[in-house]
Amino acid sequence: MNIFLEKALTLDKTDTLKSFKEKFVAAPSLIYLDGNSLGKLPIKTIETTANIIEKQWGNRLIRSWNEHWIDLSKNIAAKIAKIVGAQPDEIFVGDTTSLNLYKLLFASLSLQKGKTEIITDDLNFPTDLYIIQGLIKQQFKNHTLKVLESASEIFMDTNTISEAISKKTSVTTLSLVSYKSSFLYDMETINNLAHKNDSLVVWDLSHAAGATTIKLNETNSDMAVGCTYKYLNGGPGAPAFLYVRKDIQEKLTNPIWSWFAHEKPFDFNPNFIENSGIQKFAVSTPSILSLGAIAPGLDIILEAGITNIQTKSSKQSIFLINLIKHYLIPLGFKIASPLNDSQRGSHISITHCESYRINRAMIAPKNENTKIVIPDFRPPNLIRIGITPLYTSYLDLYEAIIRISEIVTTKEYEKFSNEKLTVT
Ligand SMILES: Cc1ncc(COP(=O)(O)O)c(C=O)c1O
Repeated sequence: MNIFLEKALTLDKTDTLKSFKEKFVAAPSLIYLDGNSLGKLPIKTIETTANIIEKQWGNRLIRSWNEHWIDLSKNIAAKIAKIVGAQPDEIFVGDTTSLNLYKLLFASLSLQKGKTEIITDDLNFPTDLYIIQGLIKQQFKNHTLKVLESASEIFMDTNTISEAISKKTSVTTLSLVSYKSSFLYDMETINNLAHKNDSLVVWDLSHAAGATTIKLNETNSDMAVGCTYKYLNGGPGAPAFLYVRKDIQEKLTNPIWSWFAHEKPFDFNPNFIENSGIQKFAVSTPSILSLGAIAPGLDIILEAGITNIQTKSSKQSIFLINLIKHYLIPLGFKIASPLNDSQRGSHISITHCESYRINRAMIAPKNENTKIVIPDFRPPNLIRIGITPLYTSYLDLYEAIIRISEIVTTKEYEKFSNEKLTVT
């Protein structure tokens, strides 16, 4: 037997997380390597959401607000807090990642009077960059944005950050794990560099939460945002979360004054009194249907243990990199993720001049006996292979790489157009 296949089978046999795959809806003949974009559906979510719709909404109607819904966001926040190393009263769950980032950046820039510089990097997600650009254009007109240049869009040298942050820096905002290369920052180092200059850091945890060990409190992180639809398996467009360290909550003000951020929303007071806790960052009535779908995915992560998940992710990434080196590098692929294990999240990006068409051929194979393999594509030429330890097996990784090599050697990708689908 081929040594990689033999190794995959052995590693799967001894994998202590292997039974967690059964907690997700199975899609036969499909290898899903895009949990870094949209996590799989936990089986329990079907029952939980059906109960919310049929019983809580259908039968109990408005009474469900007091019976189940008013504390739902708080209950989910307590679960997320355990996953990201924070306290329950430091997490708010609701709205979207972009909106939460807007609220926290606005609040930070307003607090840091006299400081006029914002720092980010070219590894950051476009929405994060747009939010900063909008804030400068519309409100903080005397601020400037420094977008730090990474090495080949793969990793960032700590020296580059250290040289950039100064007493003029109001806020540094970065993705903990880059959506492109999977580069993983050392949170504590960056937080310390910022704090030495009396400046703040806002982390985007979207590509990290649920896949890597995050210690917001231990690393003395100021603020963070993140989505729940990737490794947290909360469902498409599920509500996001934000984190604000307890001791700075009272100094920060949500720019959007609304009734759910009020100290006592159900007093219907015509004047705004800001909530004194993390709830001040809320805006509106919580989206109960999508909020309710988040909990089962979080429970699975808590049961498996985030450290065990990260350990398996690292082991699988090393296995995957070895497969890529053996089978794909000779076919013209390059690895566009850090090779150093401690600098990587849970996906590996590879490039090829025909990446887009290869990606299409993986998703729509030439015949029905061939397994569908779903990664995703990011311009200009990245194929991202997402590892979700709760349901990715070593055999999945082996079969996916063999399939890519087959598509390239037989030129199967030539049957596909280079015209991009709307969502890639
Ligand atoms: C790192 C990162 N931040 C933010 C977002 C966008 O979040 P939202 O659509 O919830 O505003 C994404 C989406 O994939 C992302 O990957």
